[in-house]
Amino acid sequence: MLFGGRAGHSPAACAAGTVGRVTGLFVTLEGIDRSGKTTQARLLCDALGAEALAIREPGGTAVGERVRDLLKDPSLTFGPHAEALLFAAARAELCRRVIRPALAEGRVVVCDRFVDSSLAYQGEARGLGVDDVREINAWATEGLLPDLTIYLAVHPAAARARAGRNDRIESEGAALQEAVARAYDRLAESEPGRWRRIDADRPAEDVHADVVAAVEAARASAAAL
Ligand code: TMP
Repeated sequence: MLFGGRAGHSPAACAAGTVGRVTGLFVTLEGIDRSGKTTQARLLCDALGAEALAIREPGGTAVGERVRDLLKDPSLTFGPHAEALLFAAARAELCRRVIRPALAEGRVVVCDRFVDSSLAYQGEARGLGVDDVREINAWATEGLLPDLTIYLAVHPAAARARAGRNDRIESEGAALQEAVARAYDRLAESEPGRWRRIDADRPAEDVHADVVAAVEAARASAAAL
């Protein structure tokens, strides 16, 4: 969805001469660390087949992958503003070079994290403010927003118990993840038309069935527009 309507062109996008989109479906997966997003993104793309394009944030472009390495490096420390701007810079590249062209071709873009991660982690948990972080991201993405955002809701303690290696942000511990979970709860409640909350404290195949149903419903309502 673009600001101002699904098939429209955001003012920023038009001013910048970027190609708006009229087709495709943009699906994002959100949740705290170890909520199962990556597994669910893979299962969804397998179910969708060739029409799906799987991407992850930060990353997905040459510049974005370099920025990802910086952001995940446990030997570095960042101020919250620099951190937010680096995420937005990687996202700007991804939107312009990968997401918009794929949507224009009519593909289903499945993105593991997007702007809402910045709203939850940097806006809320880091205390930068959701409105300010939303504004810099609206500029960076030239107004691109998902058609559907799937929130994989897990209890932070259950997510902590799942296996995995800690990156720089995960290493900060339970309080950050709990703040991020509260932020996602609020974001999902504030925009029920775009968000679909799915209980992810369940077996992966049960969660997958709900994810597929949500994507099919979004596709049907997009087709009806
Ligand atoms: P992941 O690829 O394992 O999800 O790691 C990305 C980490 O970066 C994760 O801890 C969430 C964090 N993150 C933000 O803080 N802000 C963002 O905008 C994004 C995309 C990720």
